[in-house]
Parts: sequence; C-alpha cells; structure tokens
Amino acid sequence: MCGIVGYAGRRPAAPLLLAGLQKLEYRGYDSAGIALLTPEGVRVVKTAGHDGVMAMEILAGQIDRLPAEATTGIGHTRWATHGRPTDNNAHPHLDTAGEFAVVHNGIIENYLPLRARLREAGCVFQSETDSETVVHLLAHYYRGDLAEALRRTLADISGSFALVGMCRHHPGQLVAARRNAPLIVGAGAEGDFFVASDIPAVLTETREVYVLEDGEMAVVSDGAVSFSDFAGTARAKTVMRVTWDAAAAEKGGYEHFMLKEIDEQPRALQDTLYGRVNRSGLVDLGIRAEFFAGVERVALVGCGTAYHAGLIGRELLEAWAQLPAETAIASEFRYRRPLLDEHTLVVLISQSGETADTLAALHEARKNGARVLVVTNVVGSTAAREADEVLFTWAGPEIAVASTKAYTTQLEVMVLLALYLATARGRLAAEYSAALLAELQALPAKITEILSRKEQLRRMAVPISRAGSAFFIGRGLDWAVALEGALKLKEISYIHAEAYAAGELKHGTLALVTADTPVLAVATQRALYDKTLSNVEEVKAREGRVLAVAASDNRELGDAADEVFWLPPVSDALAPLVTIVPLQLIAYYAAVLRGNHVDKPRNLAKTVTTE
Ligand code: M6R
Repeated sequence: MCGIVGYAGRRPAAPLLLAGLQKLEYRGYDSAGIALLTPEGVRVVKTAGHDGVMAMEILAGQIDRLPAEATTGIGHTRWATHGRPTDNNAHPHLDTAGEFAVVHNGIIENYLPLRARLREAGCVFQSETDSETVVHLLAHYYRGDLAEALRRTLADISGSFALVGMCRHHPGQLVAARRNAPLIVGAGAEGDFFVASDIPAVLTETREVYVLEDGEMAVVSDGAVSFSDFAGTARAKTVMRVTWDAAAAEKGGYEHFMLKEIDEQPRALQDTLYGRVNRSGLVDLGIRAEFFAGVERVALVGCGTAYHAGLIGRELLEAWAQLPAETAIASEFRYRRPLLDEHTLVVLISQSGETADTLAALHEARKNGARVLVVTNVVGSTAAREADEVLFTWAGPEIAVASTKAYTTQLEVMVLLALYLATARGRLAAEYSAALLAELQALPAKITEILSRKEQLRRMAVPISRAGSAFFIGRGLDWAVALEGALKLKEISYIHAEAYAAGELKHGTLALVTADTPVLAVATQRALYDKTLSNVEEVKAREGRVLAVAASDNRELGDAADEVFWLPPVSDALAPLVTIVPLQLIAYYAAVLRGNHVDKPRNLAKTVTTE
C-alpha cells in the first residue's frame, strides 16, 4: 500500500507532484520522495519520517532543493514492506549512473536473484528494497527506447506492481505498467499528463482518467499517451470521467474507510500469508529457530481488538503446540506482576505498534528477561523496533478507527505461529498442518463470497440499530469472536453491546433479555453446536430476538433463530477468520443507519499513545 504520482507536461512538476502525494498520504506515509528530470540527470529528494515529523512534512520542506523549472517527474509515498522505512529505502530509486528513476507499488517476488545478477553486472544498490531492482533492469536493457527497456524489464520480474519510470534522455516521457496493483493516467487540460496509483492524486487537476488493466503499459510522451500490452501490442482505451468528490475518491469510491477496509480483507490475508509457507509446505516465519528454543510458556498481550486476536492465539497454541499460554490485556499486564522469565515468550499484538499500554507491557517483559515477539502492521513502529523478533501483518494502512483487516491478519499470524510451534515441537501431524495451510490459502475466496452477501447483513443490522442494548454469545473460539463483534458494534454504533460465553448468560445476564434486546449468536464450533443451541432456546423462551452467524451444517439453528447468516464451509480452528466478517458488517450497517461518524467514532483515536 503505497502511493504513486507522475507528471509530464509544461508546468513546474515539483509542486504538482507534492500536492498529488499529499492526497495519497492515507495509502502509506512512512517515507516519501520526488525525482525530477533535468538535462544533467535525475534530481531526487526523499526522506523517511524523523523524530516524530511525518515524511511528507519533511519532503515539503525540502522541495525547494529541486529545480523549479523541471516539468517531468515522479513521486512516491511509501508504506514499508521490503526494507525498513529509511531515507535510502524511500522511492524514487535511481540506477547506478543516476539517469533513470522508478517508483513502484507492490512486491517484486524474484528480487533476490535479480539483485544478485545485477550486482554481478556492476550495478550499485543503494537500498534494501525489492523495488530498486526495477530501475537497474531498466537501465540495463536501455538501448535508446525507454518503452522497449520497460518491456524487457517486465519480462524479468514476477510479483505485483504498479510502476512508473523515466530517463534523462527522454524529457517529457513517462513509462508505466501494472499487474495486480492499481494505476491510472489522468489527462490534464493543457496536454499534460499524470500517472498515479489512485484517482485522488489527480483530481484537483483533471477528472479525465484512463484506468490501466493488469498486463497493460502506458507511455506518456510529447503531450500524448499510448497504451499497449506487455508485448507491445497497442490497446485502445476509453477515457472515464470521474464524478466523485475528492474526499470520496480517497476512499476509492467507498462511503467509509471502514467498509473499504472490510472489503480489502481477502487481499490483506493473501499478502500476510505470502512467503510464509516454504517449498516443503511448512510454515516459515523468517525467524531463526533458536529464538523459540526452550520456550515453556507464552503470554499474548494487546489491547482491544489486538487482545481479542490474542485470545484466539492462546487457544490455538494450547491446542496445537501444547504450550501453556495466557492472554493478557496490556494495561493490566505489568501491574499484576506477571510470572515471566527467559523461558517465557511474550507475544505483543498491536496494529499500530505505538499503543502506550502495549509498549509498557513490552518493557515489563524485557525487564523480566522474557523473549519479545511483536505482531504489528507498521514497519518502523516503536514496538517493531524494540522487539527481539517481529511478525508483520501486511494489511496495508488501516485508517478507520474500528480495526477490521488488521484483526483478520493478526488472526492469520496467530494461526501461522501456532502451526510453526506445533510443528517445531513435534505435536502436530504434518498432514493436518498441510491441510490447514491449504485451507488458509482458500480463505480469501470464502471471505469474498461473504462480502457478496452484504444485503442480508444490512437487513440484519436494522433491528440492532434500533436497540439500546445487544448481547453476543458463543462458546470456545466463537466466544472470542463474539467479544470482537461486540467491540465493533459498540465503538461505532454507540449501542451497548456485551459478549458472553453462551453458557454464562443464564447466570445473571438473562434477566436483561427482552424482546427489545437482540442476541447475536455465533455458532461455528461443531463440538459445541448443541450447547449453543440450548442457549439460543433459552433466549427465545424469554422472547428475545436471536440473529445468528453460523456454520452451514448447523441447520438446527435455522429453526431456532430468527435469522441466520450462513458461513461458507470452514474448519473449526479457522472459523474466526471468516466469522468476524459478517459481524464487522452488521456493526458497520448499524452505525450507518444511526447516522454516526463511522470512521472517526466519538471519544476514540486510532492510536492510543496514553496509558
Ligand atoms: O494499534 P493497536 O492494535 O495496539 O490498538 C489497540 C486498540 O486500541 C485497538 O485495537 C482498538 O480496540 C480498535 N479501535 C478496535 O476496533
């Protein structure tokens, strides 16, 4: 999740590129840069954020170092994947002679062998990124025709990309290509052109855009644009007129970031899994095995949604790896003097990696000699920097305060960690692990199928949106998911919501259940169907309204509940990753129906940096 802007025209490029990048900051913001073409070569300024100052702010202050008269350039705002967020790793990247520049979104999967080959050919690399290989390839293949050099480059690279390149010898020219990452060309009024990863970057300049398809290239040159496939066969494209306003466009046409982020979950799960299963079909966390040697117990620590992910992690670690595990709320952890020593693995879970309570827990763990593994979504965050080892979730920037794709990717990392430790400890049959990994790979498609049935969830949200209070019930892993479902509902709809282990309802809370109190039952755990069904019957006997999210073979629930959202087939252990999606959407629609500020709910902040 990074942002790209390119410009070729007659106006000074630097301010146009900066303005475009500022519109894309929501896509990634740990570093940013701009390169301009001059007759002498490429001039570049790029920077990571430093000392609490955002990269874009620093870049804006450095823009006057660039030649004001340059009219061709490219810019980038980065969300680090390969390589830390540093000045050198920021884009644009230049070739060894400083004549070519490239910006890239996505992942070049075969960058390691390419880099080795290019180094042998004399290329000098300045960064740790996969992206830099592209600019060296471009220079390597250049024989006077930049578009041809790009075509040869594309034949060498695998992975996903949206990329834009330029060369000192071709003033006024930009070459661009896409595969599995968005890219558009905006046609300005004065024969000038923009190339961008997202429409918001160009919207103040033009509403006329061409949307590139996967496998297409664009060449902007001398006030014209042409399109082709990667083999060079011309493609005719029609211009599209954008009618959204700028704010909506930042959300890619979505009304709210939260809905966009819910929809991004299939991709986020794919990205998080990518590269973590080795050729032997085993989990590869990219962490040396010695780090886990001698671990006797695990403490999973986080706040809010991250804590809920830890609850699932605990169950899986105990079930598969047979490691004693506990889950702790970070703000409680250090005050209850947890039993920690060098045999304890503390797994800190934090989307932002900046939550004060979680960082305090990290320091407590460190003080007591425990090993610290951080699960975070933000490369370069404090938690990532202070950890002994890190597992990144590759969800991309999460903007909505209500966490969605960060949670599902945290769950995926929990599954991977538990499988890894189970295998390392010889506690899990290889076939079982292989079957689970295969199923994990198939989950994005199942979530996509759930997302295609939003209309039912919108309908189920109607009675909830009118209630003053709601209960969520479930057993085992379903209970942990119920806790997260209730948190989603309360934080954005402002409806009082509580999650109960289904068997606990009758020990007091049932007194609160009336016809006006919807109860959301989660029922995916096969061994517990009957028990949960009995609890649903208890609610029905009190005239409660029961809405359920259930496994497709739990048919008896269909008769007992008022309405059921049926899940696609999924094993018990992986069910939380799909079960949460309808609950996120029910919360979302309930909040929309109540007219709330979905993305920025009252009293809350995305990152909580106070204890
Ligand atoms: O950035 P973190 O994961 O450490 O944040 C922890 C919680 O503040 C966060 O998950 C919060 O509960 C979400 N807003 C819930 O949607």
